[in-house]
Amino acid sequence: MKIGVDYYPEQWDSSMWSQDAELMAKTGVKTVRIGEFAWSRLEPSDGSFDFSWLDDVIGIFSHFGLEVVLGIPTNCPPLWLYEAHPEIIRVGSDEIPIQTGIRAHRCINSPVFMTYAKRITEQLVRRYGSNPTVTAWQIDNELEAYPCCCDECRRKFREWLIDKHDTLENINRAFGTSVWSGEYTSLSQIAPPTAYPKSWQNPALCLEFYRFTSECTAAYVKELSMVIRRECPKAQLTTNACFSENTPDFYKLFNEVDFVSYDNYPPTRLSTDPEAHYSHAFELDLMRGIKGRNFRIMEQLSGSTGGWAAMSPTPKPGMIIGYGLQALAHGADTVVHFRWRTAVTGAEMFCHGLIDHSGIPGRRFYEFAELCKTASKLSVIDTTEIISEAAIIYSPDNNYALEIQPQADGFSYMEQLRMFHKAFARYGANVDIVSPDADLSGYKAVIAPEMFVYKKSSAENLYRYVINGGTLVMTNRSGVKDQNNNCFTDTLPTVYRELIGAEITEYDPIGAAEQTIVDFAGNKFVCRQWCDVLRLTTAKAYAEYNDGFYRCCPAVTMNRYCSGVAYYVGTVCKSDFYESFVGNIMRQTGIPRLKGLPAGVEVTTRTNGLDDFIFFFNNSETPASIRLPKAMYSIIDSIGRDNIELKPFGFDIVRK
Ligand code: GAL
Repeated sequence: MKIGVDYYPEQWDSSMWSQDAELMAKTGVKTVRIGEFAWSRLEPSDGSFDFSWLDDVIGIFSHFGLEVVLGIPTNCPPLWLYEAHPEIIRVGSDEIPIQTGIRAHRCINSPVFMTYAKRITEQLVRRYGSNPTVTAWQIDNELEAYPCCCDECRRKFREWLIDKHDTLENINRAFGTSVWSGEYTSLSQIAPPTAYPKSWQNPALCLEFYRFTSECTAAYVKELSMVIRRECPKAQLTTNACFSENTPDFYKLFNEVDFVSYDNYPPTRLSTDPEAHYSHAFELDLMRGIKGRNFRIMEQLSGSTGGWAAMSPTPKPGMIIGYGLQALAHGADTVVHFRWRTAVTGAEMFCHGLIDHSGIPGRRFYEFAELCKTASKLSVIDTTEIISEAAIIYSPDNNYALEIQPQADGFSYMEQLRMFHKAFARYGANVDIVSPDADLSGYKAVIAPEMFVYKKSSAENLYRYVINGGTLVMTNRSGVKDQNNNCFTDTLPTVYRELIGAEITEYDPIGAAEQTIVDFAGNKFVCRQWCDVLRLTTAKAYAEYNDGFYRCCPAVTMNRYCSGVAYYVGTVCKSDFYESFVGNIMRQTGIPRLKGLPAGVEVTTRTNGLDDFIFFFNNSETPASIRLPKAMYSIIDSIGRDNIELKPFGFDIVRK
């Protein structure tokens, strides 16, 4: 495991670079990410480049044995470029170009911007492509599916639609534009669906626009990666992911690069509500699932964040080490902390790094130094990976379509995924989060929540999995929409009816109201948001509704189908239901369960095929104690123990 830091040499006096690099090396830092916002320093005026300072910085890091991840600085074009070419500025949903002088204000579809972006990329790679200190490249920063409304994006969107649908008539049909006199008589009438009132925009158009913007971002990464690879075929490429209002399709985004990176900012204020899922284990598993292998953290929480908003509480003692090792436990092999020094100027001056404004290392820094020390003892983990027997399906299309039309009060696609994830985590099981088209054959149980928008290959994948003996769980709002995001004219859950052996006679979007269901063993659980009233065809009832006019109708079903089993959960419950339900699925499918784990304790296993390493992380403020079935050696302090005592955010790793 490698620990790193994000560093902004352009923000500090050059006399500090050596001092900083020396302290980094002494602390145990192995890798430094630099440069992702430094375009104006690298190209101070059109076509004149200044790499002298970057040569010095990279030379200093090399001298101290630190490796560099070099950022392609295309997130922040210099102001001279905007002045010369105002058409490259991103245009907001209000159709007004966004204010320059901030960041991410470029339109990635602008041909002029691309010419300049490729040139600076090429210059950087020519200069540093063969420099052994530069071991990887980050393209841009936290890319989104930007809903840009500039003339170029409008033109491209129309072209994309006509390419996909062939004729305007087909677009009208696909979008069902007879509603509200929305029929297009010319391509020029099609506009990005971002204007007020957004919720009244055509859902078919909205989903296509999301797909388009997502594909544009992936194409942008591809174009820049091709420039890098042309100059330096062996370059290791990445871009850093984050969740935002415009989260792109990560599966497409990372297609063209070598590894996934994630910006990990777990919360520092913990909720006391047992229903609040604050653990970042879910996001980490999702990142690992994008390429189905280990990944890196490119930015990791180091202090209170904010400035543009109220500052968050500072990380509590234990969080810096704990969250760093939690990332390792879920497949991150490198954890780079954001940032070495806290900025003293600019919008992020209160987004705290490891070292505060005073420049004097304090509590958080020393905890970070401890993390570096711990990481240096964990080389045995380097060749390990996470093998899971359970998977949860994450689909960007379903997520987006359900954001366009949230279905009921409190309804959230991601929340439902997290509920299932948390249930597996309560039993200390590894869980993968994978694409709907992933190979599912290795999993004993697969959860496919809210398969809202139909895609032939994904539906076939689920059928195939069950036919071959898998245990599948589907949930409410599946099979509702066709590929165009329009409703199917068939009994729900349409294409999945045969698989689940039941049909929906009626549904009740109860929103925040609470009702109850009773399972086959008489256990009662609260349900909310949504109630599918089911009629069994070949399935059996697992749980029934307990209130109202659909009392005694099935709410959760179980169907044997070919060699496998398909469950359907027609409602949304609280965590106690998912824990009980997932517990039963694990028992039936033979996925081992650790029972009685204290709340907040997360257990994952990494393996190299010979040895298993079990990670224990106490993601809570209450000390926890776990009894092991037999004595095991901790690889953190090399002491054998049969009981693990964890402080708040405490950690241990044992060899099984
Ligand atoms: C990230 C971003 C960084 C910095 C950080 C602050 O989203 O990539 O540049 O802004 O947040 O928390």
